[in-house]
Amino acid sequence: MNWLITTFASSIGKKLMMAVTGLSFCAFLTAHLIGNLTLYAGRDAFNSYAEHLHSLGPLITVAETGLLFFGIIHVLTGLFLFFQNIAARPARYEVNKNAGGRTIGSATMPYTGLILIAFITFHLINFHFIDKTGTTIFQIVRDAFAKPSYIAIYVMAVVTAAFHVSHGLWSAFQTLGINHPKYMPLIRKAGIAFSILIGIGFGFIPVFISLTT
Ligand code: HEM
Repeated sequence: MNWLITTFASSIGKKLMMAVTGLSFCAFLTAHLIGNLTLYAGRDAFNSYAEHLHSLGPLITVAETGLLFFGIIHVLTGLFLFFQNIAARPARYEVNKNAGGRTIGSATMPYTGLILIAFITFHLINFHFIDKTGTTIFQIVRDAFAKPSYIAIYVMAVVTAAFHVSHGLWSAFQTLGINHPKYMPLIRKAGIAFSILIGIGFGFIPVFISLTT
C-alpha cells in the first residue's frame, strides 16, 4: 500500500494519473459522440438510444460515479501540476523542450481545461439535471439548440475540447512510455485526427439540429 501512496505522490505518479483519467475521458467522449450521432437519425432514434442507456440502471450509475471520480482527480492533479510548474519556471521550459516543443494545445492546457469545467457544468445543468417529466431528451436538446447563444457556446466549447485533447492524448502516450521515435509522429497525427473528429463530430450537431428541426 505504501508503494502506491509513494507512486501517486511522486511527479511521475501524478502524470500517470493525468494520463489514465484523461484517456478514460477520451473513451467517454468517443462513446458519447457515437451515441449522439443518433440525433442525425431523428427524434425517435435519439429518444430510444437515451431510453436504452437509462435502462442499464445501476451500470450507468457506476459509470457516472467513476467519471465524476476521475474528473475530480484529473482537475485537482492538473491544477497541482500547473502551480508546481509556475513555482519552478525554468524546469517547466526544460520539460516542454524535451516533450518536442510547445504547440497551441500544450501552451493552453490549464486554460482550455478550466473552460471545459465551466462548459461541462453548464451542459449537465441543461441536459442532465433538468426535469424530464412531460418531455423527451430530444425535445430538450432541440429547445436548447433553437437558441443561437447555445449553438455558439457549444461550438466554442467543442473547439476548446479539441485543442485540449490534441495535446492531452500525445502527452498521455508520452507518460505511458509509448514514445518510440518511430511511432511518435504517427501518435501525434492520430491525436490531431481524433481531436478534429471530436471538434467536427460534436460541433456540427447543434448546427444540424437548428437547421433541420
Ligand atoms: C453537441 C454536443 C453534445 C450533445 C448534443 C450532448 C448531449 C448530452 C445529453 C443529452 C446528455 C444527458 C444524457 C441524459 O442524462 O440522459 C449528456 C450528458 C453528458 N455530456 Fe454531453 N453532449 C454534447 C457534447 C458534450 C461534450 C463536448 C462533453 C465533454 C466535453 C460532454 C459531456 C457530457 C457528460 C460528462 C455528460 C454526463 C454523462 C452522464 O452522466 O451520463 N457532452 N450530453
